[in-house]
Amino acid sequence: MTLADLPQVLAVQSACYPPDLHEGPAAFESRMATSPTTNLVAEGTGGVAAYLLSHPWRSGSPPPFDAVLPPADAPLDCWFIQDLAVSPDHRGAALAARLFEAGAAAAAKLSLSRSELVAVGGADAFWRRLGYRPVGASRSLQDYGAAAVHMARELAAPE
Ligand SMILES: CC(C)(COP(=O)(O)OP(=O)(O)OC[C@H]1O[C@@H](n2cnc3c(N)ncnc32)[C@H](O)[C@@H]1OP(=O)(O)O)[C@@H](O)C(=O)NCCC(=O)NCCS
Repeated sequence: MTLADLPQVLAVQSACYPPDLHEGPAAFESRMATSPTTNLVAEGTGGVAAYLLSHPWRSGSPPPFDAVLPPADAPLDCWFIQDLAVSPDHRGAALAARLFEAGAAAAAKLSLSRSELVAVGGADAFWRRLGYRPVGASRSLQDYGAAAVHMARELAAPE
């Protein structure tokens, strides 16, 4: 994902989420700047069809929703997936699975062996299929919406 992709990435976000679950460009830009290898797009014939927004973070404390990533105050020991979204007209083509695998490979290169995320809008069933399970969060996740579920899984050790 590059800054040039951002308008199309935000258009995919708008097509995938209700307005109260939209994050602004600053949230995306700060993650791209922090972690260039773990923010990815999948391109279709019409441009960006799907994206993965993710970065190294500390376990047990999801960053605020729709915020510039704050400075880390603890070791960055996990791969935090902020967002994975596929444009509705590109669903069911395994784009989500392929972006997840590419992101996990980038996370392994950063020696991150655990992953966390906050499932929103009922997506926890999707994440369960990828091996994530609910974990207790150290703070309220109201900013991620009423259906937010903090989830985690271990990642394969790098070879
Ligand atoms: C969740 C999402 C990324 C999956 O995209 P996709 O292109 O359908 O994913 P894939 O093609 O890799 O499908 C993976 C499988 O998960 C299933 N699946 C998709 N969404 C699901 C959901 N919400 N709950 C359970 N299963 C789901 C698919 O049916 C597919 O099943 P199959 O392998 O038996 O055919 C997409 O539906 C999306 O963008 N949703 C809106 C944004 C969102 O909620 N993102 C997650 C935020 S935490």
